[in-house]
Amino acid sequence: MNKKSLKDIDLKNKRVLVRVDYNVPQDENGAITDDARIVETLPTLHYLLDQRASVVLMAHLGRPKGKVVEELRMAAIAHRLSELLGQTVECVPHCVGEEALYASQNLPNGKVLLLENLRFEPGEEANDAALAEQLAAHGDVFVNDAFGAAHRAHASTEGVAHFIRKNGGECVTGLLMTRELEYLGPLLENPQRPFVAILGGVKVSDKIGVIHNLLEKVDTLLIGGAMSYAFVKAQGHEVGTSYFKEDDAPIAAELLKAARAAGKDLRLPQDFLVADRDADDAKVLFVDADSIPANMMGMDIGPKTIAEYSGVIANAKTILWNGPMGRFEVEPFAGGTRAIAEDTAAATSRGATTIIGGGDSAAAVKQMGLKDQMSHVSTGGGASLEFLEGKVLPGIAALDEA
Ligand code: 3PG
Repeated sequence: MNKKSLKDIDLKNKRVLVRVDYNVPQDENGAITDDARIVETLPTLHYLLDQRASVVLMAHLGRPKGKVVEELRMAAIAHRLSELLGQTVECVPHCVGEEALYASQNLPNGKVLLLENLRFEPGEEANDAALAEQLAAHGDVFVNDAFGAAHRAHASTEGVAHFIRKNGGECVTGLLMTRELEYLGPLLENPQRPFVAILGGVKVSDKIGVIHNLLEKVDTLLIGGAMSYAFVKAQGHEVGTSYFKEDDAPIAAELLKAARAAGKDLRLPQDFLVADRDADDAKVLFVDADSIPANMMGMDIGPKTIAEYSGVIANAKTILWNGPMGRFEVEPFAGGTRAIAEDTAAATSRGATTIIGGGDSAAAVKQMGLKDQMSHVSTGGGASLEFLEGKVLPGIAALDEA
């Protein structure tokens, strides 16, 4: 996959329409709790402003399902972006229509406009051609910097590119999108070996495609997190009151069989930290994976597993980590995730390429203050998973080939 990037084309004094992923978490008062997705687009925005382009940004927030939801307006995002950019970012209360088009067409060079939440329009998620055509009227050129939304075939991620192209414009990757592809692409093509993937998270069924695809590519696959209990069950052991869905056990059994048949090194936790309840003051103990007491729940990987996984990570040249090892948000259960985060950070400093696959694992390394010690922390949650499954992401496919 070799896509044209914004650095490959002339953007001087152009009207540039940029899709960004500003779907950031907010608290109950609407305050942004993690602005990483906004910060990560700054290199693209600075580059465009240096070219004296006029920059029209479009983004979605939440899942308003085609209706206006006051709490999901983009004004708070425009405010934060203004602070980060050091210049006022204008905001209009619609993403298409007369007022929005007037604002984009009269936007001076070197200025930034943020359109209203795309998902207030029913046509956005439906990839409606009429909406895509109206969006395309905001720019001469289309830059897609929304890796986190690239797995969606929506009017602003996919449809719009066709109309920009029809109008004679180019459709290119932004600098964040380029960076995501530069880090994630080689994992599936030519990773430096040993290549170790660490997969955690809750449901095996959410990760089944990724596990299958990665098993073919990696040297070792380490499993942790709540999905481990499906594997424990699949091996005929009890899981006590741990998180477990019946449907996940046959999937886990199937994956174990496939790994064995292909001679792949898939490792499961050999021990766990179990607790009597999910609370800061829970009673905890360490048990082997085949001895989880009936009245206790697995909350984290145990010390034997940590030691084993640390050894594997210490020899790796490429590390991909997606999904925490346990319920790291609660301090007594954070040890396994912290150990893996520290080992991965240490691997970066000895020259390994370390990639955190977005979502909860990105939140975990941020909470542990280790984000800057990773080679790359993806801004994509679902998008990075689908990418690692080997799927074609429609938002990327729609862009011009280099
Ligand atoms: C995300 O937060 O992962 C992206 O912005 C996509 O959002 P969505 O899952 O609501 O499409």
